[in-house]
Amino acid sequence: MEVKRAKITAVGHYLPEHRMTNHDLEKLVDTNDEWIRTRTGIEERRILKDPDKATAFMGTEAAKEVLENRGISAEEIDLIILATVTPDYFFPATACLVQKNIGAKNAFAFDLSAACSGFLYALSTGSMYIESGRAQKVLVIGTDKMSSILNYEDRSTCILFGDGAGAVLLEESDDETGLIDQKHYVEGDSDCALYQPAGGSLNPATPETVEKGLHYLKQDGRAVFKKATMGMADVSLEIMKINNLDPEDVAWLVPHQANLRIIDATARRMGVSSEKVMVNINKYGNTTAGTIPLCLYDWQEKLNYGDNLILAAFGGGFTWGAIYLKWGTK
Ligand code: COA
Repeated sequence: MEVKRAKITAVGHYLPEHRMTNHDLEKLVDTNDEWIRTRTGIEERRILKDPDKATAFMGTEAAKEVLENRGISAEEIDLIILATVTPDYFFPATACLVQKNIGAKNAFAFDLSAACSGFLYALSTGSMYIESGRAQKVLVIGTDKMSSILNYEDRSTCILFGDGAGAVLLEESDDETGLIDQKHYVEGDSDCALYQPAGGSLNPATPETVEKGLHYLKQDGRAVFKKATMGMADVSLEIMKINNLDPEDVAWLVPHQANLRIIDATARRMGVSSEKVMVNINKYGNTTAGTIPLCLYDWQEKLNYGDNLILAAFGGGFTWGAIYLKWGTK
């Protein structure tokens, strides 16, 4: 039986206009531009200020741009998979809101929660629907309004994240380009090194949970840093080895943008030189599920047909993984 392959045929994005610089953060917490830049590589991040807009809005805008770039109508979409940890509501799924907003009346839609690895998990899942022939056009969206769960009095976390969304369209490839391999891992974070303590069924919202700040993201930065560095570097090298790729075969590393030092360590481990690494953390910070599609969006003009891309991510869960794909749009 001939195996179908899924490829990315269009990319879209949304970034809020408001830029929060490191100097802006100096006014909120005891930090400074030099510390943030040298420890993380971040110079500024985007913040969605409008209180009436959130994750679904950004995902919708990114999805609309995908449809426009591909020149198709929303009615042609079969499936929407939306990765996020900051859904508009616990339910209905944010993917359902996007489905309504864009008018994808023939699609089914669901959210997928894998934190910073969410986009890669969603891309892998979407590719299965194309490969099996059960869907022809799948929208994969990564969108997060991280500012909605950040404590702007906690300098160890509020400096790291920003808001934004990216999206891609998956369709069947008619040649050797497309998603070739994927490798994903999980190690349950029983120590809660990266999590949002309250708001779920274990600690539902009460005046006390609000007072204690338990609805904000909490992180043991050092522990996550160690795990992320190892996880992203190991899985990226592993997927290269399995697919017999030498460093010179890799045209681009597309890493999750959590910390420039983690990105550099991953590239070093792969033997890939820095000019082949997509980095936009300086402009957007960590947008969680948004980072990888935002890189693809920013770099799309530089991508050549047949380029080998390694996409790699690490996130809360812990979740991590890598995807090997051959770029398939001309
Ligand atoms: N400004 C100034 N100082 C800060 C600071 C800030 N924004 N945040 C923390 N510090 C201080 C700490 O209090 C600590 O002070 P101390 O030595 O007096 O205790 C010192 O800086 C070093 O803290 P540490 O946490 O060891 O720094 P670090 O080099 O590990 O960098 C992170 C902190 C958060 C940038 C880094 O650990 C990291 O990137 N972790 C992974 C984050 C991540 O990827 N999360 C998402 C998962 S994908």
